[in-house]
Amino acid sequence: MIGLVNLLIPVVVKLLIMGPGWLSVAIRVVIYGLGPIGQLIAKVALERGFDVVGAIDIDPQKVGKDLGELLGLGKTLGIKVESDADRVLRDSDPDVVLHATGSFFDRVYPQIMKAIRVGADVVSTCETLAWPWYRYPELAELVDNYARNYGSTVLGAGVNPGFVFDALPAVLSTTLTRLEKVVVVRSLDAAKRRYSFQRKIGLGMTPTQFREALSRGEITAHVGFAESVLLMANIMGLRLDRVEEGQDAIIADRHYETQYFRIEEGQVRGVVGYGSGFVGDKEVIRVELRACVACEDYEEVRLVGEPTITWRSTGTPGDPATAAVVVNLAPRVLNARPGLITLRDLINYSYSYT
Ligand SMILES: NC(=O)c1ccc[n+]([C@@H]2O[C@H](COP(=O)([O-])OP(=O)(O)OC[C@H]3O[C@@H](n4cnc5c(N)ncnc54)[C@H](OP(=O)(O)O)[C@@H]3O)[C@@H](O)[C@H]2O)c1
Repeated sequence: MIGLVNLLIPVVVKLLIMGPGWLSVAIRVVIYGLGPIGQLIAKVALERGFDVVGAIDIDPQKVGKDLGELLGLGKTLGIKVESDADRVLRDSDPDVVLHATGSFFDRVYPQIMKAIRVGADVVSTCETLAWPWYRYPELAELVDNYARNYGSTVLGAGVNPGFVFDALPAVLSTTLTRLEKVVVVRSLDAAKRRYSFQRKIGLGMTPTQFREALSRGEITAHVGFAESVLLMANIMGLRLDRVEEGQDAIIADRHYETQYFRIEEGQVRGVVGYGSGFVGDKEVIRVELRACVACEDYEEVRLVGEPTITWRSTGTPGDPATAAVVVNLAPRVLNARPGLITLRDLINYSYSYT
């Protein structure tokens, strides 16, 4: 009896000092996609005490490497990067899969299905998954049914879509008694972003190369303007009649250089784009992005109504922010309902049109 008391004393003391969270078991995660974003997600997950139990990628340069080595941690973790997703997922039995392989739901959904089949939840940076009913309504229904059957929750989120153009303005709108319009402007210095970001916005291309590469799908520029507009509207309970989006190149007026690209006068220095949501003929939501080399870093959210408020930031560093959003949402999806969910299911704090 005395032995039992002696055993329990340190447990009680730790509980008093650290709270009940101390007793909780680490969440088991698999990182699916180990490009720059997946690697950041893996690092943040490890730093935050998640149990990283598997790593999946198809890039031959990464397959077979130890995850610690790939992340440059200076130590091995005993987790090899593998390309056989089904085997990794079956053998590692994750609670949540943190997924970062691509932007288009119709291309990545087979990967998400693999995670669903082992009953894992998914948080994915796939931009079009943030509001999948816009581009892929039938696929969204299919994956939703599938996820419900397996008791798995699937969420698309990141910094944008997933925060700056949708969740952030929705939450900021909570203090207005009457809301007429939301305008979000995000400006960022593309030179500070990863290679794959700089490539996808066409840095160093001629304007013609840019338009052709965009129309052929060789570059994407920003993906998710419409998804953000629809997600923000949905969080606020606003039914839109129409959504528009578009983007074009910003052309350099002089020579610029980044770590990866040389840009001469007349070549592409970045992109400017927008998404708009209309009720009747009235534009009620507008999101605008300027992503270019040497652009200022800031976000501005203008809420027009009673009162009219403008919030301005010093800029959200997009790549680490994406990793933070994904990792911070991982415990939240564990407690969410099964099926395809959106941030609407997790954020319930905004101006309410309903
Ligand atoms: N929502 C947001 O706010 C947000 C923010 C940042 C990024 N993103 C998106 O997140 C995704 C990841 O970003 P990134 O810059 O890291 O992209 P990336 O450089 O293209 O890296 C993706 C990695 O996933 C691998 N991959 C591709 N298909 C795969 C498959 N079927 N199975 C396993 N691995 C696969 C790729 O291998 P290969 O190179 O061999 O193809 C690559 O190693 C992108 O689509 C990006 O647009 C979204």
